[in-house]
Amino acid sequence: MATPQTVKLVEVGPRDGLQNESATVSTADKISLINNLAAAGVSYIEAGSFVSPRSVPQMADSDQVFAGLSFQSGITYAALTPNLKGFERAVQAGATEVAVFASASEGFSQKNINCSVADSLIRFQPVMDAAREHKMAVRGYVSCVVGCPYDGEVAPSQTRSVSQALFEMGCYEVSLGDTIGVGTPGHFKRLLDHMLVDSPADKLAVHCHDTYGQALANILASLEYGIATVDASVAGLGGCPYALNATGNVATEDVVYMLHGMGISTGINLEKLIAAGQSICAVLGKPNSSRVARAKGAGL
Ligand code: HMG
Ligand code: MG
Repeated sequence: MATPQTVKLVEVGPRDGLQNESATVSTADKISLINNLAAAGVSYIEAGSFVSPRSVPQMADSDQVFAGLSFQSGITYAALTPNLKGFERAVQAGATEVAVFASASEGFSQKNINCSVADSLIRFQPVMDAAREHKMAVRGYVSCVVGCPYDGEVAPSQTRSVSQALFEMGCYEVSLGDTIGVGTPGHFKRLLDHMLVDSPADKLAVHCHDTYGQALANILASLEYGIATVDASVAGLGGCPYALNATGNVATEDVVYMLHGMGISTGINLEKLIAAGQSICAVLGKPNSSRVARAKGAGL
């Protein structure tokens, strides 16, 4: 399979990143981050999450975040919606796309969304039906595609069957989440060999947390399978509240630097992206996890 010439970056920092930062980030600072990402040329931004505020307090103000955005044409402002209640909040807030999120493993499903994998798929059906009525596209996530913090190793067949269920209920794309970042290129190759039997590469994305420092290598391996959508988080923000010790997603800056170096276009201005990452790190009072941002900051 040929490596793609263009890659779509799905920026998950305002959601996956900020949902797991312990510092309180004001609604205004979240809005600034999203607007800065848009100004850097990011065309898909996961801007928030309509989940139970008791489960993830950091996302409790997603309604206000959306209300304060200056929506720009050509940019998707997406949100996570685990159930119909979440979907209704997302529509009310003006989200332009939503995502449902399942797990390949039972342990993570229970901890994350308080139900079995099979029950989660049943709960998503009303979301899919309502989205169809609203002519809204739904993205699907499958977490723990390689390993689970509760169940250990996950077989590719588990990921494949949950992905198939999401496609069958109408998700236009499935993002394969290495939630705890344990995967290596070997794992991703085995997984994609298995997935591509019945899922075309252009319907799959990869979502790599960088806990074990394998994310860029895993993305490179996935590109070689024709995967052309990559999730990433500016400044490498975040983690997952239900996967303790998992670090943030791979830093968007590092992915963009690698892709541009390979002659692959993204539509993103790296300098502006780095500035967006530096601003949110200043708000959080923490160092930037992007190696590229750190190197550029040091004048290298
Ligand atoms: P539950 O307790 O089984 O649900 O939680 P429930 O329907 O019984 O509701 C419990 C309470 O939550 C009720 O309030 C509901 O109204 C409220 P009460 O009557 O007790 O006051 N509630 C809501 N409130 C606002 N918005 C909603 C909503 N739904 C219920 N949408 C539930 C089930 C799914 C709701 C809960 O477990 C939850 O919100 N989980 C979300 C967890 C989460 O956001 N995790 C992080 C995102 S996933 C991730 O990071 C992985 C990913 O990045 C990919 C990867 O890396 O692998 C995507
Ligand atoms: Mg994630």
